[in-house]
Amino acid sequence: MIERLIWDQEVAGLNPVSSTKLPHHLKKCLLICISLDIYADMQKQQIKSPHPYFGSKRRIVSDIWARLGDVENYIEPFAGSLSVLLGCPIISKIETANDYDCFIPNFWRAVQADANEVAKYADYPVLEADLHARHRWLISPAADEFRKQMSLNPNYYDAKIAGWWVWGMNASIGITFCKQRGLECKPFLSMIGQGITTPGVDVLSWFKILQERTKKVRVCCGSWERVCTPPCTYKNKSLSKNGMVGVFLDPPYLVENREDKLYRIETNIFNDVCVWAMENASHPKMRIAVCGYDGDYPFPSNWERFYWRTTGGFSSLAKDKERGKENSKKETIWFSPNCIIGKV
Ligand SMILES: C[S@@+](CC[C@H](N)C(=O)[O-])C[C@H]1O[C@@H](n2cnc3c(N)ncnc32)[C@H](O)[C@@H]1O
Repeated sequence: MIERLIWDQEVAGLNPVSSTKLPHHLKKCLLICISLDIYADMQKQQIKSPHPYFGSKRRIVSDIWARLGDVENYIEPFAGSLSVLLGCPIISKIETANDYDCFIPNFWRAVQADANEVAKYADYPVLEADLHARHRWLISPAADEFRKQMSLNPNYYDAKIAGWWVWGMNASIGITFCKQRGLECKPFLSMIGQGITTPGVDVLSWFKILQERTKKVRVCCGSWERVCTPPCTYKNKSLSKNGMVGVFLDPPYLVENREDKLYRIETNIFNDVCVWAMENASHPKMRIAVCGYDGDYPFPSNWERFYWRTTGGFSSLAKDKERGKENSKKETIWFSPNCIIGKV
């Protein structure tokens, strides 16, 4: 913890105590106080994703960044709610996000290009009839042309679909929006609202913040390996001599050990991702993190195992509730040996 705080303080470019002539124990106390202050400030700066997502890493972004550190080139091949990139305390020079589910890259491209237009469609009350109608339309053949354009044209976006999608992700129960099994599900009613459907939330201002934050993020739509090639990672021509590369890999977990319909796009690539991580971790520029359940892959002992627990809220969604609860205790992130702290 102390190491992390001191690291946070150093990356923030503030270390006024180290150079003073105070006794060591006083220096350490002062460093911790300053670090706590800076750490609190850094947490305030984190931008929240505008929708909930199954498997979101939002609660532990500080732990993740404390280990990835200040990287010049950051890649998030399984973006989901993009919570890790949004929670980054220092913006990397090169940033790339990707997800196979076209609704996700569409939302981010649309916000980058036209936050006003997306907000126009997203800022909407929770009306059940509209929730069902939009849900049906988005997964129907009527939206085939949108899906085709997303896979063919790297600059394509549709602001109306982006607005409807992000609204539906918040208005629907159990993150079932745009999934077959969510058709005809009740809206989310167990709290006053969530995300952008919370009364009083200024959706446009939120989207403007997201637009500003993501304006230079490259957003890709396709399978993960396309953004993990050497030219995208350690051979990137814009990477400086000492620049580091951070790759945060949060794939759908090993399918044998979990509910198999969590994501709209399900692919069984967990092992391929781990093999790629192992093959690339020894490169001196690479810091790699892989998320999964404890025991899903035999990473060697020089990889740090970071254990954390989900709140359990979504474990009830699992087909088998008991397994859902068990899995919430098995959440692990493996950090490659070049990562900053927690070295074993
Ligand atoms: C565990 S979630 C990522 C959660 C994310 N880290 C967050 O904090 O919200 C996994 C994501 O991988 C995407 N996905 C599934 N298969 C993929 C593939 N082969 N390539 C890229 N993305 C994929 C899913 O659409 C889903 O959004």
